[in-house]
Amino acid sequence: MCSIIGYYGDGPAAPILVRGLKRMEYRGYDSVGVATKSDHDIALKKGVGKVDDVNNALHLDNLPGHIGIGHTRWATHGNVTDVNAHPHPSSSGKIAIVHNGIIENYDELKADLQARGYNFKSQTDSEVIANLLQFNYDQCHDIKQSMIRTMSKLKGHYAFVAMFENGMLAAARYHEPLIVGIGKNGFFLSSDVLGFIEKTDDAIYLDNGEFVMLDRIGIQIYDFEGNAVKHQVTKVSKEFADAYKGDYAHFTLKEISEQPDTIIQAGDKSADAINTATDFIKHARNIYITGSGTSYNAALVAKYLWQKHAKIKVEPIISSELSFTPETIDPNSILIAISQSGESADVLEAVKIAKKANAKILSIVNILTSSLAQESAVVIGMGCGPEIGVAATKSFTAQLGIIYKITRKLCDGCINVDSTKISDSVGKVLSDQTKIKEIAKELKDVQDIYILGRAVHYPIALESALKLKELSYIHAEGIPGGELKHGPLALMDSSVYVIIINPNDFTYNDTLTSAREIKARGAKIIGISDKPSDVYDHWIQIPTIDDALYPLIEIIPIQLLSYYSAIEKDTDPDYPRNLAKSVTVK
Ligand code: G6P
Repeated sequence: MCSIIGYYGDGPAAPILVRGLKRMEYRGYDSVGVATKSDHDIALKKGVGKVDDVNNALHLDNLPGHIGIGHTRWATHGNVTDVNAHPHPSSSGKIAIVHNGIIENYDELKADLQARGYNFKSQTDSEVIANLLQFNYDQCHDIKQSMIRTMSKLKGHYAFVAMFENGMLAAARYHEPLIVGIGKNGFFLSSDVLGFIEKTDDAIYLDNGEFVMLDRIGIQIYDFEGNAVKHQVTKVSKEFADAYKGDYAHFTLKEISEQPDTIIQAGDKSADAINTATDFIKHARNIYITGSGTSYNAALVAKYLWQKHAKIKVEPIISSELSFTPETIDPNSILIAISQSGESADVLEAVKIAKKANAKILSIVNILTSSLAQESAVVIGMGCGPEIGVAATKSFTAQLGIIYKITRKLCDGCINVDSTKISDSVGKVLSDQTKIKEIAKELKDVQDIYILGRAVHYPIALESALKLKELSYIHAEGIPGGELKHGPLALMDSSVYVIIINPNDFTYNDTLTSAREIKARGAKIIGISDKPSDVYDHWIQIPTIDDALYPLIEIIPIQLLSYYSAIEKDTDPDYPRNLAKSVTVK
């Protein structure tokens, strides 16, 4: 998703902004730009491509001055072009803005402004903010008033930073993240603490419906009516400063490799919240669980585990679907929202709908300062550290780690969540990647992969398919084993690969039969199992563990397979095309 950044201080703004944007690259983007305030006017450079490439070509970091704004764009309105990249100047060039979010009524605002003589160069919704601010400023010649008037006209959700010709920065937050960093020698505005963590760990998290004005006198924060607002300065957790690849070739591989620790530590700092959540779940009449992408797959695992081990029924809902089926939520129920970022717009919308129905919100979230955490009655922190790779890996298993801890409490210890065993087993899968690398070479030219799993292994099949799609761009589909003969069997031939998730548990025999049916049609079989079989063309061995715990182990080889397939195909596993780490637009 778009990242916005602003800097007002003693240092040279442009290199600080470029460095901050680089640290937020993980959010996903297609173009980049920076504008600074020089002695006389606003200087601006922008273009399509990666931060490093555009910087090498245009020297963004050479722009003069100590005040500036920067942006990485993830296109929503208008093609990926240099002109559509941010910052966007107003038609007089006296104000420039960067924006994250969507302005829903930009069409009518644009028509109105054009009729008043304001020119537009881009196809974006964002440019309307620059010209609306300019229009309001031209009327009242007061930055605070022009901000208030502008926000009163904007519909949608947004965070933006505006730089005025006199050097003042003004920024507003409405349902998109915006954080103020307070450094010794300057102030920062950013979508993410990673934008300024190298310079300061003092931050103010703006609330929805607030705006901030920054100049040499200091910071002033207001609500959208213009009333002054006071905020505490928060210390940002130092762990965010660890967001480096270290010796790993990619963040994705680093994050996959951290799992022997992150799974077992998941939720450790939220023991009280896990107890409270368990209590709520035990006594609730209706329980819903929601998430997007990988987090939804974790929600599905919860459904299977709680049903099987604790006889508790929970209804998983894909977050983006709830807007269209709000009647799903019965009053006075519980909604458990799972999200790594805590900023996925679809998840936040689902929470809003559930709150309307008087549901209590419990969340499992990695970023404890996120909007989701703020909206929740009970917050369980995943505690797996920053996840930079766009495709979720360690956050998925941390979510499962917490779900397992809740399961054990719900069923009064009926499953044995043995941390040492889990950690050792994950470590064992990671310790020899030779075979997985060989299989990845074979997958390079494969068009279609199907992944089969029964019961709780079905959500793992779905998550496996998602990983393969995101990282290797191979078409992949997760199938519940029994559904094979109700359609997918028609697709099986020698060009197809099928991954069979087949641990030695109650699903083993049936899944092996499915594998034989597929093999008879000529497809190649990759078996993920602790038990060998002649039906597998490739056997990826996983350690034997308590039946209930297999999902935690069996996803690891598929994460690795997806990663190495991306390497074989020479695509960037950390930043897959067209995807964003936290999707803050609906
Ligand atoms: C995006 C990411 C996925 C992620 C999903 C949910 O689509 O590309 O990797 O699973 O968002 O993100 P969340 O932060 O809510 O878990």
